[in-house]
Amino acid sequence: MTERSGGAPIVVRVNPLGTLAMPLLDEDMVRFEPLLAESIIIGDVFLDQVTTHLLAAGGKRLRPLLAIASATGGEREGSQDDLLGGVSLELMHLASLYHDDVMDEATMRRNTESVNSRFGNLVAIVAGDFLMARSAAIAADLGTEVAGLLARTLALLTRGQVSEVRTAFDVNRTVEDYYEAIGGKTAALMASACRVGALTSATTEAERDALTAYGHALGLVFQVRDDILDITAVDGQLGKPAGQDLAEGIYTYPVLVALNDPTAGEKLTELLGSPLDDDAREAARQLVVGTDAIPATLEVARKHVDEAAVAAAELRSEALRTGFTRLAADLLDGLPEF
Ligand code: IPE
Ligand code: IPE
Ligand code: MG
Ligand code: MG
Repeated sequence: MTERSGGAPIVVRVNPLGTLAMPLLDEDMVRFEPLLAESIIIGDVFLDQVTTHLLAAGGKRLRPLLAIASATGGEREGSQDDLLGGVSLELMHLASLYHDDVMDEATMRRNTESVNSRFGNLVAIVAGDFLMARSAAIAADLGTEVAGLLARTLALLTRGQVSEVRTAFDVNRTVEDYYEAIGGKTAALMASACRVGALTSATTEAERDALTAYGHALGLVFQVRDDILDITAVDGQLGKPAGQDLAEGIYTYPVLVALNDPTAGEKLTELLGSPLDDDAREAARQLVVGTDAIPATLEVARKHVDEAAVAAAELRSEALRTGFTRLAADLLDGLPEF
């Protein structure tokens, strides 16, 4: 969905709370926000300023939404533990953004200056560590199963990020490499968000597994979409230049398709492999768009939407079945087909 608001650049928006359309969840999220804010304030003026920098800037709160909706099915109010599960997930996500922006040398996040840009890399890294520690402490209060799950999730997330770094600027990066990276860095956290909701609500094993499978598939759709937008976005749609991944050597699914294109592949291989200036980045982006890379990537994204729908169909709550199925499908709404 694209929209223009108050003269701001056109932004590609996702509104998961609106899409889920669960009135009780809206109320849960109102109670969630102060819990999240309180969870990191310790009375150290400088550290508090750094750790609240991005929190105040917004964000969709997608992972806590998944956790809380998974716990309640939209059929009851979230318990304190359900909400705290969401806090733990959002803090791990937030920490990963602090670290990711250092790794990607990003200057903008949540439409504001990134933490690394504002406070420097060293502060961003240790503040990210602090947020991870807070996430772990809250998870521990929720029991050994949640604590263990969060620890394993962090290992997967980190492995995904390391895999991405290992294959940076590698024109021979494979689709398997790509999935290793996105399965870890994005899908693992969403899978665990849903699973934590199952744990705090003590539901059945079958429900727990269906929720986990749903979160994983949703995470794949989410990241493939993000990677499509990096190639197709125009005129400040993202609040950052398009083709950033290309310039930084992160060759995502559409780029891998284009690299193997019989016509454009050779030219693109010559262009990629090292950092790109603005002109080279735009040339590479145009080469990718000129192949069938975007339709091919959309097809892959649709396959993951279908996987998400299959998992969602197993859920006990009708509101959740409907809401979760729509949430995955809507992620691809309004993306250009080319
Ligand atoms: C950004 O996640 C990181 C990716 C997995 C692409 P979100 O788009 O959910 O970030 P916020 O929380 O809304 O800022
Ligand atoms: C997303 O990484 C995953 C994590 C932050 C762990 P990206 O680098 O692809 O996401 P954006 O584009 O910076 O949000
Ligand atoms: Mg990044
Ligand atoms: Mg990154």
